[in-house]
Amino acid sequence: MSVTVIVGAQWGDEGKGKITHFLASDYDIVLRFQGGSNAGHTVITKGKKYKFNLLPSGILHDSCTCLLSDGMVVDTAHLIEEINTLKSEGVWFENLLLGSGANLVLPYHTLIDELEEERLAGEAIGTTRRGIGPAYADKYSRTGLLVGDLLKPDYLKKRLMGIVEYKNELIRCVYHSSKAIDFSQLYEELLTHADFLKPYIIDTVPFVRSAIKEEKAVLCEGAQGTLLDVDYGTYPYVTSSHSTTAGACLGTGISPLEISRVIGVSKAYTTRVGQGCFPTELKDEIGEQIRQRGREYGTTTGRPRRCGWLDLVLLRYAIEISGCTELALTKIDVLDGIDEIKVCVAYKHNGKIVENISVSDIELSNYEPIYQTFKGWKHSISGVQSVNELPDEFLRLTDFITQSIGIPITLLSVGEASEQTCVFRKYLE
Ligand code: GDP
Ligand code: IMO
Ligand code: MG
Repeated sequence: MSVTVIVGAQWGDEGKGKITHFLASDYDIVLRFQGGSNAGHTVITKGKKYKFNLLPSGILHDSCTCLLSDGMVVDTAHLIEEINTLKSEGVWFENLLLGSGANLVLPYHTLIDELEEERLAGEAIGTTRRGIGPAYADKYSRTGLLVGDLLKPDYLKKRLMGIVEYKNELIRCVYHSSKAIDFSQLYEELLTHADFLKPYIIDTVPFVRSAIKEEKAVLCEGAQGTLLDVDYGTYPYVTSSHSTTAGACLGTGISPLEISRVIGVSKAYTTRVGQGCFPTELKDEIGEQIRQRGREYGTTTGRPRRCGWLDLVLLRYAIEISGCTELALTKIDVLDGIDEIKVCVAYKHNGKIVENISVSDIELSNYEPIYQTFKGWKHSISGVQSVNELPDEFLRLTDFITQSIGIPITLLSVGEASEQTCVFRKYLE
């Protein structure tokens, strides 16, 4: 059994890109299974920084075949831009595949995402405005276009014409906007995208099924996080895809029984971008300190991320929902020098202590966190090369977290560079 899934165990930006790149050299295939260019995954290696929105974070290893699978929504203009950036940096290995069943994100999706956010005003979701919700909505109402449709110009033309006509009506009559989509221009653009991307387009399911039969090692890189999952997140302030481990099966044709390892990724604290409840949010100096030290500004939108303490109630929930077998704990160095580190161990609700909660936005906003406080460590741990060098204060905190979540912490990230990663080998042997 050879499939590993990396999944965000919080509200995204946990460091999935870094962990994926770190592990990718042990895998034959690295794939993304959901989401689109709303993701922003950072990899820093050999002193160079890379930011990926669509490309899987294994793309820098020429030994990995990287796949954008059918569960994704793909903005082809954006994808071509990402490929060209890597080409111009001299790190393009032609190791990309693009699933023909992935849905396209088209300019009207991005426009409607923007117009809808503006319409909602104070009630807006705070989306990345990358067209994700509208593209998945079209997928499920069966009015989407697929990557494979790019290779059928006549079919594409006919369907696109009808869809654009309808979308323009919507843009004009519902949103009262004059920003109409020009069908001919869009069609021509898509034909050039088709020419560029044709060599990479494959059928996901036969590719994935033969890889598994041939016992290739497959790494599935989640985007967003379990708490942003459309079904199991803090609805309605979620993304529009399945960002839990189950999404890796739905988006690829991998069976649940073929997944042997699920690595949940969590920061040593919590962040969130966009609207929605956040019980352990810090609106004080410590929150600001964490934001500055952790450079907590969105990779995709540049928005400041909201920061707060680690929430073990939500982390346990994410670990259960995503079936995590182990945890990668990231951004530990950001807590260097903080005198007292808090973790939320339970909530108070209507005078009662609760440890299991319903994770909807409206429910969660009524719960008050109960904290356990830990003594911080004085020295910087960003240069630590092995677990033996970690301060006792830190080990007391991780022992407590491990006991509380019931799965081992196997990877520790102590800085933004790939080289600043430690493996807790005792749990892997
Ligand atoms: P992703 O969306 O889960 O891949 O995470 P992002 O890349 O959006 O955000 C994580 C940010 O934290 C990036 O800027 C990373 O370079 C950075 N990062 C990752 N791990 C660490 C770490 O252990 N320490 C520090 N200081 N930064 C980290
Ligand atoms: P990575 O993969 C953090 C959030 C947005 C918004 C909500 C819906 O880098 O962890 P969307 O554009 O998806 O319709 O926005 O989800 N969001 C993310 N937050 N990291 C991400 O991706 C995110 N992708 C979407 O801020 O609250
Ligand atoms: Mg991110």
